Amino acid sequence: MSTASKDQNEQTGQRAMWSSRMAFILAATGSAVGLGNIWKFPYITGENGGGAFVLVYLLCIAVIGIPIMMAEVMIGRSGRKSPISAMRILATRAGRSANWQWVGWMVIASAFIILSFYSVIAGWALSYIGYAASGTFAGASAETIGGIFSSLLADPATLLLWHSLFMLLTIVVVARGVRGGLERAVTLLMPALFVLLLVMVGYAVAAGDFARGFAFLFRPDFSKLTTSAVLTAMGHAFFTLSLGMGAMMAYGSYLPEKVSIAKTAIIVSIMDTVVALLAGLAIFPIVFANGIEASSGPGLVFQSLPLAFGQMPGGALFGTLFFILLVFAAWSSSISLLEPLVEWLEEHRGIDRKIAAIGGGVSIWLLGLVSVFSFNIWSDVKPLSMFKMFEGKTMFDLLDYLTANIMLPLGGLLAALFVGWALSSKSVREALEMEDNMQFKVWYTLVRYVTPVAVLIVFIYNLG
Ligand code: PFF
Repeated sequence: MSTASKDQNEQTGQRAMWSSRMAFILAATGSAVGLGNIWKFPYITGENGGGAFVLVYLLCIAVIGIPIMMAEVMIGRSGRKSPISAMRILATRAGRSANWQWVGWMVIASAFIILSFYSVIAGWALSYIGYAASGTFAGASAETIGGIFSSLLADPATLLLWHSLFMLLTIVVVARGVRGGLERAVTLLMPALFVLLLVMVGYAVAAGDFARGFAFLFRPDFSKLTTSAVLTAMGHAFFTLSLGMGAMMAYGSYLPEKVSIAKTAIIVSIMDTVVALLAGLAIFPIVFANGIEASSGPGLVFQSLPLAFGQMPGGALFGTLFFILLVFAAWSSSISLLEPLVEWLEEHRGIDRKIAAIGGGVSIWLLGLVSVFSFNIWSDVKPLSMFKMFEGKTMFDLLDYLTANIMLPLGGLLAALFVGWALSSKSVREALEMEDNMQFKVWYTLVRYVTPVAVLIVFIYNLG
């Protein structure tokens, strides 16, 4: 019997389960903490002017992110199936239309698209392990390091190689199933990443322009806050917490009863936020001390941190470790992007988990080629430039924009409407295993009113 099917048979007689509350917290944190925290958060903060953006982002995490994470985990646990089937089962059980399953389709489509470019970026991190280990950064200037980054992007074959390797890593873990693969990996890696980030912050305090970096992150200047920045902040809250993509639903479907969904969601969100802020504190002091443009885009982390590694004692070692851990963080996220699709193929089409993981993974890999080429041979292809809001965006930019800023908030909005309006409050409360107390009422109000209204307002503003 394969590891995966053995997994399936443990505990429940048929379904795989996380072995403990801790295992779920680690897996969900593994999903949440990834490139979004260390690569994306710093660069979009840089592009959107700093403090005020960070404040909106934190607000979105608290008011929208945590309630929706609870809703999604609950949907998964109550349905005990992939997002598509779980939505259908819960809807029909509540006497609602089976069409709610389309929300499941949409979140799986989002995960499909996101993983296609996520893997390409994770490929950058993979290639940086080699640069760091071979001492390429030692004593290098900002220009040299910028040059390394641009020549990497200009070379489709190399990007393709790393993208392929990363997809392979993702497929292998998902093929092995919940316990055999996922659980073991995250237990060790997440704490190690945390410690290494602290080391980087230490370096930034010692050698960077810490005061300026700190002020940039935490002193809000609302004159720099545009409506599109608010949309980006909200979209990123979804992205970084792995919401609107079925990941938390799929992971919730393996969550044992009697584990508090509220507590775990709060813990996971706090850890995710701390990692993002630490990444910001490690990066911006170096950015400012070295005259790098804070708004220089997706290359920010790949240009600022190598500078620090090139100058600090033991930099080759720390740099190598750092990029290894970055890859691991991305890895524990990418598996949660592939899992919902594989779970569905397995349960619905009766496809063997291994085959499902390979089939799903290869299709996503193919779509990833679009992102690979966006940085070089297709860098001039900007298909939607006739619209003001998409001006100058490459295919990679568009995929990122479409998912993070539109599909994820929409998926989250629909999950909130489903839980807040389509299901009865009693069934929801029981599924969350909560008392009818203040906490429940606060959460319920957020999900029913605050979240949908907030997402809609941000949407309408941006369309208008
Ligand atoms: N939350 C991950 C990150 O911040 O890097 C990315 C991600 C993983 C998004 C899984 C969505 C998801 F389902």
